Amino acid sequence: MEFKNSIFIATSLDGYIADKNGGIDWLLSVPNPDHDDMGYNSFMENIDALVMGRVTYETVLGFQGEWPYPRPVFVLSNTLNSIPDHLNEKVFLIQGKPKEILETIHSKGFSRLYIDGGKTIQSFLKEGLINELIITTIPILLGGGFSLFGELNSLINFELKSSKVYLGNYVQNHFIRLKK
Ligand SMILES: NC(=O)c1ccc[n+]([C@@H]2O[C@H](COP(=O)([O-])OP(=O)(O)OC[C@H]3O[C@@H](n4cnc5c(N)ncnc54)[C@H](OP(=O)(O)O)[C@@H]3O)[C@@H](O)[C@H]2O)c1
Repeated sequence: MEFKNSIFIATSLDGYIADKNGGIDWLLSVPNPDHDDMGYNSFMENIDALVMGRVTYETVLGFQGEWPYPRPVFVLSNTLNSIPDHLNEKVFLIQGKPKEILETIHSKGFSRLYIDGGKTIQSFLKEGLINELIITTIPILLGGGFSLFGELNSLINFELKSSKVYLGNYVQNHFIRLKK
């Protein structure tokens, strides 16, 4: 089985994924009358499960409407004890170090994972566990907030697979990790 860990996320020009208050409404700053999904659905088709930090999970829980993910979501948390009844069979709490978390999820048969949430992504990157980055850059400077990237113990090289412009304003770069 081939294991793969991917990131699909949007950032501000200054590298934030949420503003100082945790807000993400700036992600929708450019009109999108035709509801272009900017590659999201085709990305999701090739994902078996999501691994999501607790803060991102709580943000999604606060959205109006139905639970948006068509795949199992493993939520990393050392503080949550339960999930709402309506998310039984959809959301699973998990704890531990990134490698242990991956072993648990792989043992359940999920191999291609979407890793989401700033702290979560940072902890997986630090352990060298991310293979693919799909990052859409929004033309705004937030001046502070929740960072996508943090410190690493050593550099990680990627190569550009593709670069696309959406809505005349958003640049989506798709990077693949280079083998050492
Ligand atoms: N721009 C975008 O496309 C985009 C995408 C996703 C998220 N966001 C936003 O970005 C913000 C992300 O918040 P965040 O950076 O604080 O991160 P996060 O990764 O969503 O959540 C961090 C939390 O995950 C839990 N956790 C448990 N084990 C962990 C581990 N091994 N590594 C990392 N975290 C672990 C901890 O929860 P406990 O405290 O419960 O232990 C920790 O506080 C949110 O506001 C979200 O809405 C934006």
